Amino acid sequence: MLIIISKISGRGEMIVENIFDVQDLSYQVGNKEILKHISVKIEKGKYITVVGPSGSGKSTFMRILASMISQTSGKVLFEGKAIDSYEPTKYRQRVSYAFQQPTLFGKTVRDNLTFPFEVRNEEFDESKVKQYLKMVNLDESYLDKSVNDVSGGEKQRIALLRNLIFPPEVLITDEVTAGLDVENKNIVHSMLAEFNQRGLTILRVTHDESEIEASHDKITIKNGEVVDNV
Ligand SMILES: Nc1ncnc2c1ncn2[C@@H]1O[C@H](COP(=O)(O)OP(=O)(O)OP(=O)(O)O)[C@@H](O)[C@H]1O
Ligand SMILES: [Mg+2]
Repeated sequence: MLIIISKISGRGEMIVENIFDVQDLSYQVGNKEILKHISVKIEKGKYITVVGPSGSGKSTFMRILASMISQTSGKVLFEGKAIDSYEPTKYRQRVSYAFQQPTLFGKTVRDNLTFPFEVRNEEFDESKVKQYLKMVNLDESYLDKSVNDVSGGEKQRIALLRNLIFPPEVLITDEVTAGLDVENKNIVHSMLAEFNQRGLTILRVTHDESEIEASHDKITIKNGEVVDNV
């Protein structure tokens, strides 16, 4: 399916829609400058790979975009308005962050997958959830498994479903395939590619060589600075 993400202006020019416009963003803790004067625009509908050495500030930057922490200076516009002008709960439904080290809460997998329905005051749709489980190679028996009985890689995939059952406009994945074998990595890749084709903007942080090689659009962060933005 073809998604048109550009608009044509009155004068017939293509208008590129930037979902994020980051302007001179810095993040400092005490004397430590973790992010330094980052300015970058992110086009709507893109699938961007965020790379850079360990400790360079990738997760910190993603946490700011996801409104989990706030920058100490500079601005981030989401759809033209500052992130902090949105109601945080609503914002996080639109910009969803899949954690580097996900934790499952409650007792069972079901507790985790009912949560997205509860926050939206919607009735739990079991058949939809079972379909989603199937998409990440988990059969429906997982729904009633104890959170203590699922492996690290299964946990990552279940946590990812929490982000996607109600698709956001932006999904930020922070090394979500790091603990997966090739088969399950590929399952996650095709699922995310399909969501992206349907219009989801994705920012994925990764150290995985094959993911980096396969990516078209990259942002490289080194020592708190964006050094390459293609
Ligand atoms: N709240 C904080 N207080 C102090 N230092 C912090 C804080 N948050 C992050 N840092 C430091 O900022 C730097 C960047 O951390 P961050 O987690 O963003 O790196 P990263 O690029 O995601 O690394 P990795 O690839 O290992 O996940 C690190 O040196 C980290 O220790
Ligand atoms: Mg990180």
